[in-house]
Amino acid sequence: MKLLIVGSGGREHALAWKAKRSEYVKELYAAPGNSGIQDVAKCVNIPADDIRQLAAFVEKKGIDLTIVGPEMPLSLGIVDYFEKRRLNIFGPSQAAARIESSKVFAKRFMRKYGIPTASFVTFDRVEDALDFVRGRRERLVIKADGLAGGKGSIIADNEEEAEAAIKKIMVERLWGSAGKKIVIEKYLDGVEASVLAFTDGENVLPLLPVQDYKRAYDDNKGPNTGGMGSVSPHPGVDENLLQEITDTVLLPAIFGLRMEGSPFKGVLYAGLMVQPDRSVKVIEFNCRFGDPETQAFIPLMKSDIIEVILHTIEERLDEAELLWYERKAVTVILASGGYPKKYKKGFEITGLKEAGDMEGIYLFHSGTLKRGRAYITNGGRVLGVTGVGENYNEAFNRAYRAVSMINFEKMMYRTDIGLEFIKGGI
Ligand code: AMP
Ligand code: GLY
Repeated sequence: MKLLIVGSGGREHALAWKAKRSEYVKELYAAPGNSGIQDVAKCVNIPADDIRQLAAFVEKKGIDLTIVGPEMPLSLGIVDYFEKRRLNIFGPSQAAARIESSKVFAKRFMRKYGIPTASFVTFDRVEDALDFVRGRRERLVIKADGLAGGKGSIIADNEEEAEAAIKKIMVERLWGSAGKKIVIEKYLDGVEASVLAFTDGENVLPLLPVQDYKRAYDDNKGPNTGGMGSVSPHPGVDENLLQEITDTVLLPAIFGLRMEGSPFKGVLYAGLMVQPDRSVKVIEFNCRFGDPETQAFIPLMKSDIIEVILHTIEERLDEAELLWYERKAVTVILASGGYPKKYKKGFEITGLKEAGDMEGIYLFHSGTLKRGRAYITNGGRVLGVTGVGENYNEAFNRAYRAVSMINFEKMMYRTDIGLEFIKGGI
Protein backbone atom coordinates (compact mmCIF):
# COMPACT_ATOMS: atom_id res chain seq x y z
CA MET A 1 0.00 0.00 0.00
CA LYS A 2 0.87 3.66 -0.24
CA LEU A 3 1.15 5.23 3.19
CA LEU A 4 1.25 8.88 4.27
CA ILE A 5 2.49 10.00 7.68
CA VAL A 6 1.43 13.50 8.75
CA GLY A 7 3.83 15.47 10.94
CA SER A 8 7.44 16.55 11.18
CA GLY A 9 8.84 15.52 14.55
CA GLY A 10 10.91 12.76 16.09
CA ARG A 11 7.71 10.81 16.72
CA GLU A 12 6.92 10.83 13.02
CA HIS A 13 10.50 9.83 12.17
CA ALA A 14 10.15 6.81 14.48
CA LEU A 15 6.77 5.90 12.94
CA ALA A 16 8.19 6.28 9.42
CA TRP A 17 11.22 4.17 10.30
CA LYS A 18 8.92 1.41 11.56
CA ALA A 19 6.43 1.72 8.68
CA LYS A 20 9.29 1.34 6.22
CA ARG A 21 9.86 -2.13 7.69
CA SER A 22 6.20 -3.15 7.31
CA GLU A 23 5.37 -5.79 4.76
CA TYR A 24 2.20 -3.85 3.92
CA VAL A 25 3.99 -0.68 2.83
CA LYS A 26 5.28 -0.31 -0.70
CA GLU A 27 5.47 3.49 -0.93
CA LEU A 28 5.95 5.82 2.00
CA TYR A 29 5.24 9.56 2.10
CA ALA A 30 5.46 12.16 4.84
CA ALA A 31 3.93 15.65 5.05
CA PRO A 32 5.83 17.76 5.70
CA GLY A 33 8.35 15.32 7.19
CA ASN A 34 11.87 16.41 8.10
CA SER A 35 15.46 15.89 7.08
CA GLY A 36 15.70 12.57 8.92
CA ILE A 37 12.40 11.25 7.60
CA GLN A 38 13.70 12.01 4.09
CA ASP A 39 15.92 8.95 4.36
CA VAL A 40 12.94 6.60 4.64
CA ALA A 41 10.04 8.46 2.98
CA LYS A 42 9.26 10.93 0.22
CA CYS A 43 8.60 14.24 1.95
CA VAL A 44 5.97 16.55 0.49
CA ASN A 45 5.85 20.16 1.50
CA ILE A 46 2.33 20.38 2.94
CA PRO A 47 1.90 21.65 6.52
CA ALA A 48 0.45 19.12 8.97
CA ASP A 49 -2.62 21.26 9.64
CA ASP A 50 -3.51 22.03 6.02
CA ILE A 51 -6.22 19.40 5.90
CA ARG A 52 -7.60 20.26 2.47
CA GLN A 53 -4.25 20.15 0.76
CA LEU A 54 -3.41 16.87 2.48
CA ALA A 55 -6.68 15.32 1.30
CA ALA A 56 -6.08 16.60 -2.24
CA PHE A 57 -2.59 15.06 -2.20
CA VAL A 58 -3.94 11.72 -0.92
CA GLU A 59 -6.58 11.65 -3.67
CA LYS A 60 -4.10 12.57 -6.38
CA LYS A 61 -1.50 10.00 -5.34
CA GLY A 62 -3.98 7.25 -4.49
CA ILE A 63 -2.67 6.93 -0.93
CA ASP A 64 -4.26 3.95 0.84
CA LEU A 65 -3.75 5.00 4.44
CA THR A 66 -2.88 8.19 6.33
CA ILE A 67 -1.44 8.15 9.86
CA VAL A 68 -1.63 11.40 11.83
CA GLY A 69 1.14 12.25 14.31
CA PRO A 70 0.34 15.60 15.96
CA GLU A 71 -2.74 16.73 17.87
CA MET A 72 -3.41 19.89 15.88
CA PRO A 73 -4.80 18.35 12.68
CA LEU A 74 -6.78 15.85 14.79
CA SER A 75 -8.36 18.61 16.82
CA LEU A 76 -9.08 20.52 13.59
CA GLY A 77 -11.04 17.51 12.30
CA ILE A 78 -8.71 15.91 9.74
CA VAL A 79 -10.27 12.50 10.38
CA ASP A 80 -13.84 13.74 9.85
CA TYR A 81 -12.78 15.53 6.65
CA PHE A 82 -10.97 12.47 5.25
CA GLU A 83 -13.77 10.08 6.17
CA LYS A 84 -16.34 12.24 4.42
CA ARG A 85 -14.24 11.78 1.30
CA ARG A 86 -13.94 8.04 1.96
CA LEU A 87 -10.20 8.29 2.56
CA ASN A 88 -8.67 5.77 4.95
CA ILE A 89 -7.14 7.51 7.98
CA PHE A 90 -5.89 6.50 11.42
CA GLY A 91 -6.85 8.72 14.35
CA PRO A 92 -9.81 9.97 16.39
CA SER A 93 -12.57 12.27 15.15
CA GLN A 94 -12.58 15.94 16.14
CA ALA A 95 -15.21 15.23 18.82
CA ALA A 96 -13.18 12.37 20.31
CA ALA A 97 -9.98 14.46 20.14
CA ARG A 98 -11.55 16.89 22.64
CA ILE A 99 -10.20 14.54 25.29
CA GLU A 100 -6.91 16.32 24.57
CA SER A 101 -7.94 19.61 22.97
CA SER A 102 -10.08 20.77 25.93
CA LYS A 103 -8.89 20.19 29.47
CA VAL A 104 -12.23 21.41 30.82
CA PHE A 105 -14.01 18.77 28.74
CA ALA A 106 -11.48 16.10 29.76
CA LYS A 107 -11.76 16.82 33.50
CA ARG A 108 -15.57 16.89 33.49
CA PHE A 109 -15.59 13.72 31.40
CA MET A 110 -13.33 11.97 33.92
CA ARG A 111 -15.57 13.05 36.80
CA LYS A 112 -18.68 11.85 34.98
CA TYR A 113 -17.25 8.41 34.21
CA GLY A 114 -15.47 7.83 37.51
CA ILE A 115 -11.95 7.95 36.09
CA PRO A 116 -9.48 8.82 38.88
CA THR A 117 -8.02 12.31 38.49
CA ALA A 118 -6.91 15.23 40.69
CA SER A 119 -9.82 17.20 42.18
CA PHE A 120 -10.40 20.41 40.25
CA VAL A 121 -12.46 23.49 39.50
CA THR A 122 -12.91 25.26 36.17
CA PHE A 123 -13.21 28.97 35.47
CA ASP A 124 -14.02 31.18 32.52
CA ARG A 125 -13.75 34.49 34.42
CA VAL A 126 -10.43 35.81 35.69
CA GLU A 127 -11.93 37.38 38.83
CA ASP A 128 -13.51 34.10 39.91
CA ALA A 129 -10.24 32.24 39.42
CA LEU A 130 -8.32 34.87 41.38
CA ASP A 131 -10.93 34.73 44.17
CA PHE A 132 -10.54 31.00 44.33
CA VAL A 133 -6.77 31.01 44.86
CA ARG A 134 -6.77 33.91 47.32
CA GLY A 135 -5.57 32.75 50.73
CA ARG A 136 -4.70 29.25 49.56
CA ARG A 137 -1.47 27.77 50.76
CA GLU A 138 -1.37 24.44 49.01
CA ARG A 139 0.45 23.78 45.78
CA LEU A 140 -1.90 24.02 42.79
CA VAL A 141 -1.66 23.38 39.07
CA ILE A 142 -3.13 26.00 36.75
CA LYS A 143 -3.92 24.78 33.24
CA ALA A 144 -5.02 26.50 30.05
CA ASP A 145 -8.08 24.76 28.61
CA GLY A 146 -6.82 24.48 25.02
CA LEU A 147 -3.74 23.21 23.20
CA ALA A 148 -0.45 24.80 24.22
CA GLY A 149 2.21 22.47 22.84
CA GLY A 150 2.55 20.60 26.13
CA LYS A 151 3.48 23.79 27.95
CA GLY A 152 0.08 25.06 29.13
CA SER A 153 0.26 23.82 32.74
CA ILE A 154 1.87 25.89 35.48
CA ILE A 155 2.69 24.53 38.92
CA ALA A 156 2.09 27.22 41.54
CA ASP A 157 3.68 26.82 44.96
CA ASN A 158 1.75 29.64 46.62
CA GLU A 159 -0.96 32.23 46.19
CA GLU A 160 1.29 34.72 44.37
CA GLU A 161 2.46 32.16 41.82
CA ALA A 162 -1.11 31.00 41.30
CA GLU A 163 -2.26 34.57 40.65
CA ALA A 164 0.60 35.17 38.25
CA ALA A 165 -0.21 31.92 36.40
CA ILE A 166 -3.88 32.83 36.07
CA LYS A 167 -2.96 36.23 34.67
CA LYS A 168 -0.43 34.78 32.25
CA ILE A 169 -2.96 32.36 30.85
CA MET A 170 -6.20 34.38 30.98
CA VAL A 171 -5.08 38.01 30.70
CA GLU A 172 -1.76 38.05 28.86
CA ARG A 173 -3.04 35.12 26.83
CA LEU A 174 0.36 33.47 26.60
CA TRP A 175 -1.26 30.63 24.67
CA GLY A 176 -3.89 32.69 22.91
CA SER A 177 -7.47 31.46 22.95
CA ALA A 178 -6.34 28.27 24.73
CA GLY A 179 -6.54 30.49 27.83
CA LYS A 180 -10.19 31.49 27.57
CA LYS A 181 -10.96 28.96 30.28
CA ILE A 182 -8.76 27.34 32.88
CA VAL A 183 -8.66 24.33 35.12
CA ILE A 184 -7.20 24.64 38.61
CA GLU A 185 -6.36 21.33 40.20
CA LYS A 186 -4.69 19.75 43.15
CA TYR A 187 -0.99 19.00 42.84
CA LEU A 188 -0.23 15.27 42.84
CA ASP A 189 2.92 13.61 44.10
CA GLY A 190 4.43 10.52 42.58
CA VAL A 191 6.04 9.11 39.47
CA GLU A 192 4.65 9.95 36.05
CA ALA A 193 3.88 7.27 33.50
CA SER A 194 2.63 7.41 29.92
CA VAL A 195 0.35 4.52 29.06
CA LEU A 196 -0.70 4.51 25.43
CA ALA A 197 -3.10 2.09 23.83
CA PHE A 198 -4.51 1.32 20.42
CA THR A 199 -8.27 1.40 20.54
CA ASP A 200 -10.95 0.71 17.95
CA GLY A 201 -13.68 2.34 20.03
CA GLU A 202 -14.40 -0.80 22.01
CA ASN A 203 -11.24 -2.85 22.56
CA VAL A 204 -7.93 -1.59 23.87
CA LEU A 205 -4.44 -2.89 23.20
CA PRO A 206 -1.88 -1.17 25.44
CA LEU A 207 1.63 -0.37 24.23
CA LEU A 208 4.69 -0.67 26.45
CA PRO A 209 4.41 1.89 29.28
CA VAL A 210 6.90 4.75 29.05
CA GLN A 211 8.48 7.19 31.46
CA ASP A 212 8.61 10.67 29.93
CA TYR A 213 10.92 13.36 31.31
CA LYS A 214 9.12 16.67 30.86
CA ARG A 215 11.28 19.13 32.78
CA ALA A 216 14.10 20.89 30.97
CA TYR A 217 16.94 20.16 33.39
CA ASP A 218 18.41 17.30 35.45
CA ASP A 219 16.65 16.23 38.65
CA ASN A 220 13.34 17.32 37.11
CA LYS A 221 14.17 20.99 37.53
CA GLY A 222 13.28 23.86 35.26
CA PRO A 223 10.31 24.56 33.02
CA ASN A 224 8.10 21.96 31.38
CA THR A 225 9.04 21.08 27.81
CA GLY A 226 7.58 18.91 25.07
CA GLY A 227 9.74 16.12 26.57
CA MET A 228 13.51 15.77 27.13
CA GLY A 229 13.77 12.00 27.19
CA SER A 230 11.97 8.74 27.78
CA VAL A 231 12.48 5.22 29.07
CA SER A 232 10.59 2.13 28.01
CA PRO A 233 9.28 -0.11 29.42
CA HIS A 234 8.48 2.05 32.46
CA PRO A 235 10.12 0.25 35.40
CA GLY A 236 7.35 1.40 37.76
CA VAL A 237 4.46 -0.05 35.75
CA ASP A 238 4.42 -3.83 35.91
CA GLU A 239 1.84 -6.13 34.33
CA ASN A 240 -0.51 -5.93 37.32
CA LEU A 241 -0.49 -2.17 37.37
CA LEU A 242 -0.94 -2.02 33.61
CA GLN A 243 -3.99 -4.27 33.94
CA GLU A 244 -5.37 -2.02 36.66
CA ILE A 245 -4.80 1.05 34.48
CA THR A 246 -6.54 -0.70 31.59
CA ASP A 247 -9.54 -1.51 33.78
CA THR A 248 -9.85 1.77 35.67
CA VAL A 249 -8.66 4.31 33.11
CA LEU A 250 -8.48 3.11 29.51
CA LEU A 251 -11.66 1.04 29.27
CA PRO A 252 -13.84 3.55 31.18
CA ALA A 253 -12.53 6.34 28.92
CA ILE A 254 -13.34 4.39 25.77
CA PHE A 255 -16.76 3.49 27.18
CA GLY A 256 -17.43 7.10 28.16
CA LEU A 257 -16.49 8.49 24.77
CA ARG A 258 -18.81 5.97 23.14
CA MET A 259 -21.59 7.04 25.50
CA GLU A 260 -20.95 10.68 24.61
CA GLY A 261 -21.54 9.83 20.97
CA SER A 262 -17.89 10.21 19.98
CA PRO A 263 -16.25 6.79 19.92
CA PHE A 264 -12.46 6.98 19.98
CA LYS A 265 -10.45 5.19 17.30
CA GLY A 266 -6.71 5.59 17.25
CA VAL A 267 -4.14 5.85 20.02
CA LEU A 268 -5.35 7.00 23.41
CA TYR A 269 -2.55 8.29 25.60
CA ALA A 270 -3.09 8.43 29.36
CA GLY A 271 -0.61 10.64 31.20
CA LEU A 272 -0.68 9.24 34.73
CA MET A 273 0.65 9.92 38.18
CA VAL A 274 1.52 6.75 40.08
CA GLN A 275 1.19 7.98 43.63
CA PRO A 276 3.39 6.80 46.50
CA ASP A 277 0.67 4.33 47.60
CA ARG A 278 0.67 2.95 43.99
CA SER A 279 -2.80 4.30 43.27
CA VAL A 280 -3.07 5.96 39.89
CA LYS A 281 -4.58 9.27 38.81
CA VAL A 282 -4.91 10.70 35.31
CA ILE A 283 -3.06 13.96 34.70
CA GLU A 284 -4.14 14.29 31.11
CA PHE A 285 -5.33 12.40 28.09
CA ASN A 286 -3.81 12.83 24.65
CA CYS A 287 -5.38 11.67 21.42
CA ARG A 288 -2.22 10.45 19.65
CA PHE A 289 1.23 8.90 19.98
CA GLY A 290 3.55 10.69 22.42
CA ASP A 291 6.77 12.49 21.61
CA PRO A 292 9.36 11.35 22.79
CA GLU A 293 7.56 8.22 24.04
CA THR A 294 7.29 6.84 20.51
CA GLN A 295 11.04 7.14 19.92
CA ALA A 296 11.59 4.84 22.93
CA PHE A 297 9.06 2.07 22.29
CA ILE A 298 9.24 1.82 18.50
CA PRO A 299 12.67 0.08 18.40
CA LEU A 300 11.30 -2.45 20.93
CA MET A 301 8.24 -3.34 18.85
CA LYS A 302 8.46 -6.72 17.16
CA SER A 303 4.98 -6.64 15.57
CA ASP A 304 4.16 -4.91 12.32
CA ILE A 305 2.63 -1.62 13.45
CA ILE A 306 0.70 -1.21 10.21
CA GLU A 307 -1.07 -4.51 10.78
CA VAL A 308 -2.21 -3.34 14.23
CA ILE A 309 -3.32 0.01 12.80
CA LEU A 310 -5.37 -1.75 10.11
CA HIS A 311 -7.03 -3.91 12.78
CA THR A 312 -7.84 -0.73 14.70
CA ILE A 313 -9.41 1.02 11.73
CA GLU A 314 -11.41 -2.08 10.82
CA GLU A 315 -12.68 -2.38 14.40
CA ARG A 316 -11.26 -5.83 14.98
CA LEU A 317 -8.54 -4.97 17.44
CA ASP A 318 -9.54 -7.99 19.54
CA GLU A 319 -7.87 -10.12 16.85
CA ALA A 320 -4.57 -8.21 16.97
CA GLU A 321 -1.57 -8.70 19.21
CA LEU A 322 1.51 -6.70 20.00
CA LEU A 323 4.83 -8.44 20.46
CA TRP A 324 7.91 -6.78 21.91
CA TYR A 325 11.62 -7.51 22.13
CA GLU A 326 12.71 -8.27 25.69
CA ARG A 327 14.95 -5.21 25.76
CA LYS A 328 15.01 -1.75 27.32
CA ALA A 329 15.21 1.61 25.62
CA VAL A 330 16.47 5.00 26.76
CA THR A 331 15.83 8.05 24.57
CA VAL A 332 17.80 11.25 25.16
CA ILE A 333 16.62 14.43 23.44
CA LEU A 334 19.29 16.81 22.20
CA ALA A 335 17.90 20.34 22.26
CA SER A 336 19.06 23.80 21.27
CA GLY A 337 20.52 25.82 24.17
CA GLY A 338 17.75 28.00 25.60
CA TYR A 339 14.88 25.61 24.77
CA PRO A 340 11.98 25.72 25.75
CA LYS A 341 12.42 29.48 25.67
CA LYS A 342 14.47 31.40 23.11
CA TYR A 343 17.12 29.55 21.14
CA LYS A 344 19.19 29.94 17.98
CA LYS A 345 19.08 27.68 14.95
CA GLY A 346 21.46 26.96 12.08
CA PHE A 347 24.38 25.28 13.87
CA GLU A 348 26.10 22.37 12.16
CA ILE A 349 25.58 18.96 13.79
CA THR A 350 28.63 16.71 13.82
CA GLY A 351 29.08 13.03 14.66
CA LEU A 352 25.69 11.82 13.38
CA LYS A 353 27.09 9.08 11.17
CA GLU A 354 29.46 7.70 13.83
CA ALA A 355 26.76 7.76 16.51
CA GLY A 356 24.09 6.29 14.22
CA ASP A 357 26.36 3.37 13.25
CA MET A 358 26.82 2.26 16.86
CA GLU A 359 25.25 -0.98 18.02
CA GLY A 360 21.81 -0.55 19.58
CA ILE A 361 21.50 3.10 18.56
CA TYR A 362 18.59 4.69 16.72
CA LEU A 363 18.60 8.36 15.77
CA PHE A 364 15.29 10.13 15.27
CA HIS A 365 15.41 13.64 13.86
CA SER A 366 13.01 16.37 14.95
CA GLY A 367 14.51 19.81 14.30
CA THR A 368 17.25 19.24 11.73
CA LEU A 369 17.80 20.57 8.24
CA LYS A 370 20.00 18.96 5.59
CA ARG A 371 22.30 21.34 3.80
CA GLY A 372 24.33 19.59 1.16
CA ARG A 373 25.71 16.61 3.03
CA ALA A 374 25.65 18.34 6.41
CA TYR A 375 22.84 18.66 8.94
CA ILE A 376 22.13 21.88 10.82
CA THR A 377 19.89 22.56 13.80
CA ASN A 378 16.43 23.80 12.92
CA GLY A 379 14.28 23.67 16.04
CA GLY A 380 14.10 23.52 19.84
CA ARG A 381 14.21 19.77 20.07
CA VAL A 382 16.77 18.69 17.49
CA LEU A 383 17.34 14.97 17.76
CA GLY A 384 16.33 11.92 19.76
CA VAL A 385 19.03 9.37 20.51
CA THR A 386 17.59 6.00 21.51
CA GLY A 387 19.86 3.38 23.05
CA VAL A 388 18.53 -0.17 23.22
CA GLY A 389 20.10 -2.84 25.42
CA GLU A 390 19.54 -6.03 27.38
CA ASN A 391 18.90 -3.99 30.52
CA TYR A 392 18.54 -0.34 31.59
CA ASN A 393 22.28 -0.04 32.23
CA GLU A 394 23.19 -1.09 28.72
CA ALA A 395 20.48 1.07 27.14
CA PHE A 396 21.59 4.08 29.20
CA ASN A 397 25.29 3.57 28.46
CA ARG A 398 24.70 3.12 24.75
CA ALA A 399 22.47 6.19 24.51
CA TYR A 400 24.91 8.45 26.34
CA ARG A 401 27.94 7.10 24.49
CA ALA A 402 26.23 8.01 21.24
CA VAL A 403 25.24 11.42 22.66
CA SER A 404 28.88 12.08 23.49
CA MET A 405 29.82 11.64 19.84
CA ILE A 406 27.27 14.19 18.58
CA ASN A 407 27.85 17.89 18.88
CA PHE A 408 26.52 21.29 17.88
CA GLU A 409 26.93 24.73 19.33
CA LYS A 410 24.94 25.23 22.54
CA MET A 411 23.74 21.62 22.56
CA MET A 412 21.62 20.96 25.64
CA TYR A 413 20.42 17.67 27.06
CA ARG A 414 19.59 15.98 30.33
CA THR A 415 22.24 13.66 31.73
CA ASP A 416 19.85 11.67 33.94
CA ILE A 417 17.37 10.01 31.58
CA GLY A 418 16.83 6.58 33.13
CA LEU A 419 19.53 7.14 35.73
CA GLU A 420 17.27 6.39 38.70
CA PHE A 421 16.67 2.88 37.35
CA ILE A 422 20.30 1.86 37.19
CA LYS A 423 21.58 3.01 40.57
CA GLY A 424 24.39 0.79 41.66
CA GLY A 425 26.32 0.48 38.45
CA ILE A 426 26.55 2.57 35.36
P1 AMP B 1 -0.47 18.65 31.28
O1 AMP B 1 -0.40 19.97 30.59
O2 AMP B 1 -1.75 18.40 31.96
O3 AMP B 1 -0.01 17.56 30.38
O4 AMP B 1 0.67 18.70 32.38
C1 AMP B 1 2.01 18.85 32.03
C2 AMP B 1 2.88 18.36 33.14
O5 AMP B 1 2.63 19.15 34.32
C3 AMP B 1 2.61 16.94 33.57
O6 AMP B 1 3.28 16.01 32.82
C4 AMP B 1 3.13 16.98 35.00
O7 AMP B 1 4.52 16.91 35.02
C5 AMP B 1 2.72 18.34 35.48
N1 AMP B 1 1.38 18.27 36.13
C6 AMP B 1 0.19 18.52 35.54
N2 AMP B 1 -0.81 18.35 36.42
C7 AMP B 1 -0.26 17.99 37.57
C8 AMP B 1 -0.78 17.67 38.89
N3 AMP B 1 -2.08 17.73 39.17
N4 AMP B 1 0.11 17.35 39.84
C9 AMP B 1 1.43 17.31 39.59
N5 AMP B 1 1.98 17.60 38.40
C10 AMP B 1 1.16 17.93 37.40
N1 GLY C 1 5.51 13.51 25.76
C1 GLY C 1 4.37 14.28 25.95
C2 GLY C 1 3.45 14.35 24.81
O1 GLY C 1 3.63 13.74 23.78
O2 GLY C 1 2.46 15.05 24.95
